Amino acid sequence: MELNRVAVTGAGMMGTAIAQVVAMGGYPVSVRDIDSDFLNRSKTNIEKKLNALVDKGKLSEENAKKISSRMTFTEDLSVAVTEADLIIEAVPEDLELKRKVFTELEKIAKPSAIFASNTSELSISSLASSTRRPKQVIGTHWFFPPQVMKLIEVIVTPETSQETLETTVSFCKSIGKETVICKDAQGFITSRAISALVVECMRIYEEGIASIEDIDKAMRLGFNHPIGPFQLMDMSGLDVVYHALEGLTEVYGDRFEPGRKMADLVKTGHLGQKTGNGFYNYRK
Ligand SMILES: NC(=O)c1ccc[n+]([C@@H]2O[C@H](COP(=O)([O-])OP(=O)(O)OC[C@H]3O[C@@H](n4cnc5c(N)ncnc54)[C@H](O)[C@@H]3O)[C@@H](O)[C@H]2O)c1
Repeated sequence: MELNRVAVTGAGMMGTAIAQVVAMGGYPVSVRDIDSDFLNRSKTNIEKKLNALVDKGKLSEENAKKISSRMTFTEDLSVAVTEADLIIEAVPEDLELKRKVFTELEKIAKPSAIFASNTSELSISSLASSTRRPKQVIGTHWFFPPQVMKLIEVIVTPETSQETLETTVSFCKSIGKETVICKDAQGFITSRAISALVVECMRIYEEGIASIEDIDKAMRLGFNHPIGPFQLMDMSGLDVVYHALEGLTEVYGDRFEPGRKMADLVKTGHLGQKTGNGFYNYRK
């Protein structure tokens, strides 16, 4: 199946960056959000990123203009999606909200359009069941920052059609990304694996075996991880990580249970970099 036009719904941190990558890959893309402030911020952020590439000599001014001209920003869902062949959903990680968005999309999207969710761990089957096109529903899990990270984890349900899978994988390749394919299981490959690491590191800390700083240093220098697990959790937001660990615990049992320290930080509103305090203090 040919993809000529893409829509991204949810113009937050991920949706904005995904839209930029898609436009840079040559596709016209419409970006939709329910909040005009987010849309304005999204547009400005992309312009800034493109200008920075021009300043560094990595992109010509002419190309930057072409990329910008491929993008539209709108609060109107039907304007954003009626012509789209692929709709990438990047609204907050809340199953009921995502199901609601998929049901809305079902009503106005082209019958042939593919719906791709950027969820980090939620059930793609559950999202598919809120539509009448389960064969055309798939997961495309991007990584932060999408402009830099090479991987898109592609998640298929038992109902996802081979055509949807092949079209999605070739779309990802056409915008310069690599893919891995994974069956629909809570946390997929990457969220499940990184969660196992962070939970074990929290246990090492809580058992008094080593400090947060030394555990992070061990992962960086011992395994060449670019940042340590506690730094990563602070960067992602402790509320977000906590919520993901709760989801994994529900499915796989207590091996994914978040530690006491993390529960205390979340309860007291210390959510990492965004609040200035988490496993580390960023106010110093
Ligand atoms: N942040 C990350 O590092 C990361 C990495 C991979 C995947 N994800 C996943 O990507 C998704 C989005 O995450 P984010 O960090 O960009 O969130 P975010 O909070 O930055 O952005 C979400 C955006 O969705 C908008 N929104 C809310 N309801 C909407 C609706 N009904 N229709 C359209 N827009 C709506 C919000 O206004 C907001 O702009 C989540 O599922 C998250 O798990 C996040």
